[in-house]
Amino acid sequence: MCGIFGYVGKRNDAGALAVEGLKNLEYRGYDSWGIACKTDGVVLIEKSTGKISTVDSNDFRESCSLAIGHTRWATHGGVTEFNAHPHANGDQKIAVVHNGILENYQELKKDLMEKGHEFLSETDTEVIPHLIEEYLKQTDDFAYAVRMACKDFDGRYAFLALHTESNTLVAARRGSPLIVGVGDDGYFVASDIPAFMEHTKLVQYLDDGEMVVTNGDNIIFSDLETGDEVVKREIEITWSIEQAQKGEFEHYMLKEIMDQKESVARAVNQNEEQIYTLAEAIRNAKGTFLVGCGTAAKACMAAEYFFSVIAEKHVNFAPASEFKLYHHFLLPESLLIVVSQSGETADVLEAMKIAKSKGSKVLAIVNVEGSTIDREADYTLLINAGPERAVASTKALTGQMAVLLLIAYTLADKTQEGKRLLLETSSKINDMLNPRYVEFVESIAEKIQEKSDLFIIGKSWNYPMALESAIKIQEVSYVHAEGFAGGELKHGPIALIEEGTPCIALVGNDEVKADIISNAIELKARGGHIIGISPENNEVFDEWIKVPDAGAAQAIVNIIPVQALAYFLAVKRGKDPDMPRNLAKSVTVK
Ligand code: F6R
Repeated sequence: MCGIFGYVGKRNDAGALAVEGLKNLEYRGYDSWGIACKTDGVVLIEKSTGKISTVDSNDFRESCSLAIGHTRWATHGGVTEFNAHPHANGDQKIAVVHNGILENYQELKKDLMEKGHEFLSETDTEVIPHLIEEYLKQTDDFAYAVRMACKDFDGRYAFLALHTESNTLVAARRGSPLIVGVGDDGYFVASDIPAFMEHTKLVQYLDDGEMVVTNGDNIIFSDLETGDEVVKREIEITWSIEQAQKGEFEHYMLKEIMDQKESVARAVNQNEEQIYTLAEAIRNAKGTFLVGCGTAAKACMAAEYFFSVIAEKHVNFAPASEFKLYHHFLLPESLLIVVSQSGETADVLEAMKIAKSKGSKVLAIVNVEGSTIDREADYTLLINAGPERAVASTKALTGQMAVLLLIAYTLADKTQEGKRLLLETSSKINDMLNPRYVEFVESIAEKIQEKSDLFIIGKSWNYPMALESAIKIQEVSYVHAEGFAGGELKHGPIALIEEGTPCIALVGNDEVKADIISNAIELKARGGHIIGISPENNEVFDEWIKVPDAGAAQAIVNIIPVQALAYFLAVKRGKDPDMPRNLAKSVTVK
């Protein structure tokens, strides 16, 4: 949520670098944008509402070797130019870009106003440069003034600051991500690696409660509280630039759906020793809890079925945002499994904090290596899906489910069987996602694009996939979609079915097949237009989207055509599937 970018170094096109870097962070927010360049002893700020992708970096070619920039997902204050970052103090000497929320900004603002500071925006962020200005009355050390200001903040933040009187870029982090890119000719500091990946693959991670000060030649990390220097390792990242780009595809969402030809196999390629150790940890735990948010939560729900059916093991799922009240069940011997693509989701981090306060261990299943969740967990399994840039999560979900299914098989002492199943499934997905198949899914989207309501049913592990299908369709196409356990419809929601209402039935060749087909028949009897996603055709289907028979991995396969359907519904309805309204990727606020 909100992307921030900074550069200081020998290059003199820092403004243009900021524009290009922010374009790679646009998935984090796209309400408005802004750049501050320090040049000839002044800070030049340019900002506007709208998307950074429409900005030409050639307009920012004036000589400047220190710049910061921001792409916004509005929290405090509407989408206006005044509320866009960077924010400056009164004499425009200090500029700041910020991601996160300062919970006590109203008190700080009141104090500052009493001291004569004037504010132009409705944001929490604007207090930061004003407060730094106050501390600069006591010191001429800019970094020290930033550190003092941080002591006054409550909440979660990552921010970058610059000052006309200093050639340094100063950044601080508490709760929101910040990563340093070590370039040949300077340092980058950004919310995420794609912002500077074109320039360097060497990174250093800031931890919570740390700050960094760099003049482009040197960099110093220190503890925000004590000011003590912290030594950091340089880590080389493994993602390639190609993986992070759209390539031949019109949108990231379609590219990432197609990436599933390979990403499921990459997720399965885990260190077996580690999987055994984790399965052992689950076996011995006094209570295993699974949490995630949104799509990742649906992977957790599916895993409840995987563990039950394959390993006969009970695990407890809760959406991360609902985990707070579970703390009574947590013991030092309990295990919390957290699932997250970004590794930065605030509600998941909060659940981890609760578990740790009870002494429980945390296993993380994440995509982004080096993310906060990765670094704060006791054990991590990376799903290796590669960068996921579209707001709608697709390949991360199937990677998460693959890893969870493999763990379930390991718990049942059937690791090799699980691995074989998943690798076979991966190759079936590869065959399935051919151009003709994708065109066929598009033709179904064409037929139902005008419909305003859509229902999806599933049973067993296809039930969480019905819920996930609804999320995908809602968030990118804005069609009202709802997912249900097939058996639940007749307890109420069936009243919503009218002649021609599209109803998707997610079916597998499993012990609940007859039940879900009966549920589809019930819908058809009320006028439902049944779209079956199933390995086999059935007379109840008005449309049939064939999927390979994948046994216990059926949920992984069944969700893929729905992702494609959601994508095509969005495109046909004239929506941008990569940047849906009101949303942003990486939800770092609670
Ligand atoms: C929906 C979607 C979100 C995320 C959720 C958790 O397509 O992407 O529901 O799944 O915000 O994000 P992560 O997985 O990064 O923790």
